[in-house]
Amino acid sequence: MAKREFTFFNPTKLVFCPDYSESLRCHVGTRDYGIVTYPDAFFSDAVDQIQGILGKAVFVATDITPNPDFSYFNALDEERRRDLAKAEALIALGGGSVIDTAKVFAAGLEDRPDIRDLLNFASQSPALHSKDIIAIPTTAGTGSEVTSWATVWDSESGRKFSLSHPDLYPKVAVLDASLTYKLPPRITLASGLDALSHALESVWNINANPISSNYAVRASRIIIETLPSLMNNPENARLRQMMLQAAVFSGLAFSNTKTALAHNISYPVSLNHNLEHGIACSFTLPLVMRRAIGSDTVCDETLREIFGNDLHNGADQLEEFLCNLEISTDPDDYGIPATTFKKYLNDALTGERGRNFIAA
Ligand SMILES: [Fe+2]
Repeated sequence: MAKREFTFFNPTKLVFCPDYSESLRCHVGTRDYGIVTYPDAFFSDAVDQIQGILGKAVFVATDITPNPDFSYFNALDEERRRDLAKAEALIALGGGSVIDTAKVFAAGLEDRPDIRDLLNFASQSPALHSKDIIAIPTTAGTGSEVTSWATVWDSESGRKFSLSHPDLYPKVAVLDASLTYKLPPRITLASGLDALSHALESVWNINANPISSNYAVRASRIIIETLPSLMNNPENARLRQMMLQAAVFSGLAFSNTKTALAHNISYPVSLNHNLEHGIACSFTLPLVMRRAIGSDTVCDETLREIFGNDLHNGADQLEEFLCNLEISTDPDDYGIPATTFKKYLNDALTGERGRNFIAA
């Protein structure tokens, strides 16, 4: 049944521009700032360029690796924490791991160096007084540039945690498609499929509303049409721009609904089978869609806007779309035995994100 009362909220300013560096002066100004990014040469050059424009940063973290882990945050020494404390704004240049890490830094890690303590504090505090985040995504997929949460892993205990607080929405998302032109094929593919997962997961979601679904439909259509062409024409500027926009639409959609079953299945898959997030949360999409069909009329209507009237045929189309991108939907192909996958599925249905699933 359609909801009569709903809220859609997202405070992040979106700036689409052809050169991210041009807009930094305007968004950082003369404040003391920090930079969070990856270690590769491209990003080191960008750090130099940013400091050339804004002056020296008071805090620079260029050692971000995929899947931000407890051990990384807990290892931040006192001197680095003092530098972090000086930063009034943080520039996060990178993919989801970089933006999520910046959110942890922004939340007050200098005052609460134990990450568990920080997670507890954030879950109980009405205000974090956090630093402003200027998110500059270099992939088209994460959506973290428009959400108020970060995924943090504790690889030692094999668990995934979420840092979540309304104060952690980035102040600005600077969206420069040229940053994605040279992305390797596998990252283009995984991030594009992550964006598709965000869109679809916001549709088969108990928190869906007409605004989130509108963004999700638009995003899904663009990604399904664009991603295969982009994989064959990776330097096509128009296709890169389309994917960046679609990723933001997906981000806006799930910023208000959170994710659902496919993402909850993905966490043990990533942790135990070393599969990238974007693949881990997308290879189950046809399976999840088949479970969603028929459970809610509004959800079915929204899915028809993406896949046409015959939704079972639509799920087959989705499977074919993934197959054409060489993404198997068979867990066995990722080294996940059938019994293990069944356990992941059952556990996911009862987890926090799984309970968002419309047919849970
Ligand atoms: Fe995701």
